[in-house]
Amino acid sequence: MENTDAKLVKSPTFFIDSIPVYGDVLLAPMDGISDPPFRILTRKMGGAVNITGFVNTNDILRNADYLDKRLAFDPNIERPLAFQIFGSDPNLLLEAALRLQDRGPDFIDINMGCSAKVIRRKGAGSELMATPKTIAAIFKLLTRNLSIPVTGKIRLGIDDENLNHLEVAHIIEDNGGKMLAVHGRTRVQAYEGKANWHAIAEIKGAISIPVIGNGDIVEPEQIDQMKKMTNCDAVMIGRAAIGNPWIIAKSHRKRQPHTEIHRVMMEHLKSMIGFYGEDKAILLFRKHAKHYIASCDPPRAMFVSLLRSETLAEFTEICDEVFTQAK
Ligand SMILES: Cc1cc2nc3c(=O)[nH]c(=O)nc-3n(C[C@H](O)[C@H](O)[C@H](O)COP(=O)(O)O)c2cc1C
Repeated sequence: MENTDAKLVKSPTFFIDSIPVYGDVLLAPMDGISDPPFRILTRKMGGAVNITGFVNTNDILRNADYLDKRLAFDPNIERPLAFQIFGSDPNLLLEAALRLQDRGPDFIDINMGCSAKVIRRKGAGSELMATPKTIAAIFKLLTRNLSIPVTGKIRLGIDDENLNHLEVAHIIEDNGGKMLAVHGRTRVQAYEGKANWHAIAEIKGAISIPVIGNGDIVEPEQIDQMKKMTNCDAVMIGRAAIGNPWIIAKSHRKRQPHTEIHRVMMEHLKSMIGFYGEDKAILLFRKHAKHYIASCDPPRAMFVSLLRSETLAEFTEICDEVFTQAK
């Protein structure tokens, strides 16, 4: 199944600077989830553009061992693609972004949304929303010195009393940012409460660069609802896409035959095995597997033994049983 809208579109839906983007749905960057196998799968479903999970500036500068794996991408399927980076020191971010640029992404995305304490303590992620001057300095420096576009992903501010999304959006545009993704929550909210789509609409009305709306899309119908309500250029989907890549194709998992869910799930697992090797892939796939089989409602013991499988053979056998009993 593919995002037919994206397929039929003859002209680009929008541009990131001069890069054409076809389609209006994309997978959200999710550390530990949006790796190459999952990103490729969602692109095959019609995803318009890819952004990797965040990478730490310091790890880039010390050339950490894990970088090659973390920054791998398939240039035949994944373009346009951004590497997302987090940090707080404009000069270090520039040095890191210059190194990332050499690895051939189409653009660089700055994380200003992560609410995890370990990132905030470094003044990075959503903590940057408290220091708009630093955001201005980062975008000014990077956009002047990189040869590829720089984009950003923000929240609405630190808390409800300190909403500064409009100020930050203007700062990013005025300092050369070429696209803005907006998770419609504050840092204090983390993932609680409802995402504020009105704030996304406010940003879209205030700036001219493309705006990507994000937060709380769980059903395919909400994609067009968010677009209509906010006028955003595209919609970014995170948690609801886990074990449910069909949402990127604006389709319901519950409308897929079990045979199709089973097929896509095994294709995803095999792609992860190709990328990570069997032992690691089987472990990492647990996060996806429990969502794929949600609609099969397997007996608890079967569910647990599937998630505890340690080999592809074991996983395949139990998975066959899960889908057989679901018929
Ligand atoms: C497990 C997980 C990891 C995430 N990692 C990142 C990340 O690396 N970079 C980022 O900008 N946002 C990250 N996010 C936030 C998502 O991109 C997205 O903004 C958030 O989940 C809200 O969208 P949703 O309601 O569609 O899930 C992460 C979210 C989750 C659940």
